[in-house]
Amino acid sequence: MNILFIGDVVGAPGRKAIRDKLYGIIRKFSLDIVIANGENSAAGLGMTRQTADDMFDQGVDIITMGNHTWSKSDIFNFIDDDKRVIRPANVSTAWPGRGYTTITVKGVKIAVLNLIGRVGMQPSDCPFVAADKLLEDIKDHEAPDIVILDFHAEATSEKNALARYLDGRISLLVGTHTHIQTADECILPEGTGYITDVGMTGPSNSVIGMEIASSVRRFTNKLPVPYRVADGPYVFSALFASIDDTSGRTVKIERIREF
Ligand SMILES: [Fe+2]
Ligand SMILES: [Fe+2]
Repeated sequence: MNILFIGDVVGAPGRKAIRDKLYGIIRKFSLDIVIANGENSAAGLGMTRQTADDMFDQGVDIITMGNHTWSKSDIFNFIDDDKRVIRPANVSTAWPGRGYTTITVKGVKIAVLNLIGRVGMQPSDCPFVAADKLLEDIKDHEAPDIVILDFHAEATSEKNALARYLDGRISLLVGTHTHIQTADECILPEGTGYITDVGMTGPSNSVIGMEIASSVRRFTNKLPVPYRVADGPYVFSALFASIDDTSGRTVKIERIREF
């Protein structure tokens, strides 16, 4: 199974990057499934029906979210019904929507999970305990051949530790949220593919996707400044993984960063 995971899609420049690049990448890697993190797809914060459809129309199959899941209220109108959208599973049982979803491609059942970290983030339930519970639930109810986790977290240590904790129990762990791609993609000893952060798909001349002057002012003035997505050229950041359908192990992994 050939899988692409696209890192946090930021605003219109991120969606344009998908429009320009994804079709060619689908062909180049003979992709079977495309997953994208969409938490910043609507003007940098949150996701709307329109920005979700914009990504689905270009070939994205599943969208994961993160700490900005509810930043646009439009998501409340469709997250319960659209099984292609998932949000972190370990924050609140009151949250609408779902923490994992499944998709069957060429007779292979793939489960996609979304968890959020708690080092340097808003309070949430322990992602390690949540991962154990989620995997147990999925095994009982879905029996997937392949399991992919978007771990949306700030700290490299927490992502690294969860990947090691789950090595051999899931097929692929992709870190998201920092918007800065790390160069540590690898296949862990028990077969789990891993990258600490897949990076951002959005404006490259920016501070993690946001307009530079106002972002810098946040730090120099220590005063709140509204977030504004930067203009200009984009970077397309993603991770390709080829996963064995029978063993569920990652057999090939490649980091993608195109301008
Ligand atoms: Fe993000
Ligand atoms: Fe985030």
